Amino acid sequence: MAKVVVTNRIPQEGIEALQAEHDVTVWDHEECISREKCLELIAGADAVLTLLTEKVDDEFLDAAGEQLKVVANVAVGYNNIDVAACEKRGIVATNTPKVLTETTADTAFGLMLMVTRRFGEGERVIRSKTPWQWGMFYMLGMGLQGKTIGIVGAGQIGIAMARRAKVFGMEVIYTDAYEMDASVEQELGAKKVELDELLSQADVVSLHCPLIPAGQEGSTHHLIDAEALKKMKPTAYLVNSARGPIIDEAALVEALTSGQIAGAGLDVFENEPTVHEGLLDLDNVVLLPHLGSATVETRTAMAELAARNALAVLAGKTPETPVTKI
Ligand code: DGY
Repeated sequence: MAKVVVTNRIPQEGIEALQAEHDVTVWDHEECISREKCLELIAGADAVLTLLTEKVDDEFLDAAGEQLKVVANVAVGYNNIDVAACEKRGIVATNTPKVLTETTADTAFGLMLMVTRRFGEGERVIRSKTPWQWGMFYMLGMGLQGKTIGIVGAGQIGIAMARRAKVFGMEVIYTDAYEMDASVEQELGAKKVELDELLSQADVVSLHCPLIPAGQEGSTHHLIDAEALKKMKPTAYLVNSARGPIIDEAALVEALTSGQIAGAGLDVFENEPTVHEGLLDLDNVVLLPHLGSATVETRTAMAELAARNALAVLAGKTPETPVTKI
């Protein structure tokens, strides 16, 4: 039996799959595990299931010990994992793509509707008991039909968002290092453009690229900075359901305050769970507490996939969704 550590609560289906074969320890508390406790708990583990709140770096890998074989992240984004450090030690790291694609695209689409149609703002009016009455020109938003969505990062979630936008009558442009599959491009009527062109043409810019840290090749840290925001139309909206640090949050506050762009819908933040104070005061922003993949079904599927990945590596097999080179 191997020692498996799960650094936070995950759906029971994932835990039971692990328990059927191994000795499992779970940090079974509502709040996230502290760094100190985490380093203590993982000592001697052969496999660790991590959440995006755990930084998997040399310190973490040292604390686990030489027997560690696999780090299975219960998230599709793995910017919390130092992949090179894992590879150097022959440790397999995995993530949970595909199972959360539709749910995360739903969140991005929800944010787009909420901010362009001012649903978040309207809800706040009612809740704050602010007087209101129906009016021909009261709280008008921007219709989506015939508008252009700019997808930044045309992976699975980006494509799922584009499909939803297409059904709503939007034109699709995208930017990515890779071309979309020709049949998908055709289905969506999508056109690949450079980032600058996307920023200047799109009525809604929706971010779906991974966070690649500053200093690394292809870095997406602060991809949307003051300069990028200046290229957007004053009538355009920005949606982020990817990772917070892709946007320079201070620059975004400035752009939203000065009217440089029309609004933003954000599910992720630069320093989670802290949210830039400047965003809290703005009516043209919709803010969600990182709910991208937060459905019972999806979180269960994520836990099950992470468990299968860990079990595969412990059994000497290739996991379904590695992020390290195998
Ligand atoms: C992910 O899987 O990367 C999501 O952000 C978690 O909801």
